[in-house]
Amino acid sequence: MKGLSSITQIYFNFIALTTLSFISLYISPFSIHVCGNIMCGLSLPVDYAFWFRSVPIKFGLGVLKEIGYDVSKFAVKNALIVTDNFLRENTKVVEEAVSSLSEKNVVVDVWDGVEPEPSHSSILNGIEFAKKKSYDCIIGLGGGSAIDTAKIINLYTTYPTDFLDYFVQPLGKGLRVPGPLKPLIAVPTTSGTGSETTSVAVVTFPEKKVKFGISDDHLRPSLAILDPLVTLTMPQKVTAATGMDALMHAIEAYTTISYYAKPAPPTVAERPVYCGSNPITDALAESAITLIGKFLPRAYSNGNDIEARSSMHIAATIAGLAFGNAGVHICHALSYPIAGEAIEKGVKVPHGLAVSITAPATLRLLTPYLVEKIGNISYLLGFKEYDVEVWEIIINFMKILDFPNGLSEIGFRKSELHVLAEKALLQKRLLSMSPVHVNVKLLERILEESFILW
Ligand SMILES: [Fe+2]
Repeated sequence: MKGLSSITQIYFNFIALTTLSFISLYISPFSIHVCGNIMCGLSLPVDYAFWFRSVPIKFGLGVLKEIGYDVSKFAVKNALIVTDNFLRENTKVVEEAVSSLSEKNVVVDVWDGVEPEPSHSSILNGIEFAKKKSYDCIIGLGGGSAIDTAKIINLYTTYPTDFLDYFVQPLGKGLRVPGPLKPLIAVPTTSGTGSETTSVAVVTFPEKKVKFGISDDHLRPSLAILDPLVTLTMPQKVTAATGMDALMHAIEAYTTISYYAKPAPPTVAERPVYCGSNPITDALAESAITLIGKFLPRAYSNGNDIEARSSMHIAATIAGLAFGNAGVHICHALSYPIAGEAIEKGVKVPHGLAVSITAPATLRLLTPYLVEKIGNISYLLGFKEYDVEVWEIIINFMKILDFPNGLSEIGFRKSELHVLAEKALLQKRLLSMSPVHVNVKLLERILEESFILW
């Protein structure tokens, strides 16, 4: 460019940018960004990079009995197991973990006050319990609720502050976690939430009839221990709801906006945890969809089917890795007000049901924009004929799993759908990952089409 006048240079840059924008429609994102950002020195208004973050994972039948060895590798002396009363009273899982830890001279306490879809008051109780002693390791043992509660106890006992400070806006202040937390070991006893791999924890605020989350890289567990044997006692309804949650994690991760179509972050440090779909998360999502399509009906109909339980357990973690990096979007954003408003009616809607109930309508809406990916989902779920649409397949799954027939059957009235749509619109962190622009009218349309499904 040496020797060009500034006006000529501006003109040259304009032509280059216009050409590159046109080319970007037809060639790979890698090419456009290499050319646009490096060769020509231009800065484009979209992102050009993604992170993929994971946790060390140990998988195997009976591997829970090795937890003492695994925890001792973190030089732990005092550990706190965060679990729920049902698991402690009705299974041998907690006892087995305590015994393995004690064998390695780790002093263990157990707090069993975890609630399903944990409320902020239950978590505050856990934080108060954990403050009584100086623990150097937190173990989340149970479903996603136990692991999420363990993450938040770990956070607030390490960096205490007002409870809402770390929650995402508009409910909280969205403060970043100041630094690393104590080692957190996640042992999921359900196969669905993927919380063992993610940097997110979700809390229910019953008085506000809404769920909100904390999202920060420091929340991610230090180790995930996956033992399919601990899932054998999972009740049939929990198998269904958590399994559909895992399926929706994979499907939503697969259909988020691409990492190279997202707006560029203001600074490198502000690139969000959810980076958008990318080749790594796509491969993981495809694998999880295939496994869940094959094994969820089997795990539901026979809880002692070891192959099905093992496959669902690893599939849920694979889906967790996909959505924990790519993100989720419309169905998860809608799930929070659906579950929150249902509490008012005295109905506790499991997260997996709240998410999947709007899936058929959402996928029907997205099909024209994501023809290839939506077609792939149908294929991976085992439907090789092109005349079966993906939303029909999801409805078929819901029938097999004895799900209610739409929002009407969990007690909603048509007049309440507008409020659900407006509350879902507050989930900006999730809706920013949608492959299409979302407004209140679009959400209302999805909710109306989810009122009666079949
Ligand atoms: Fe979920």
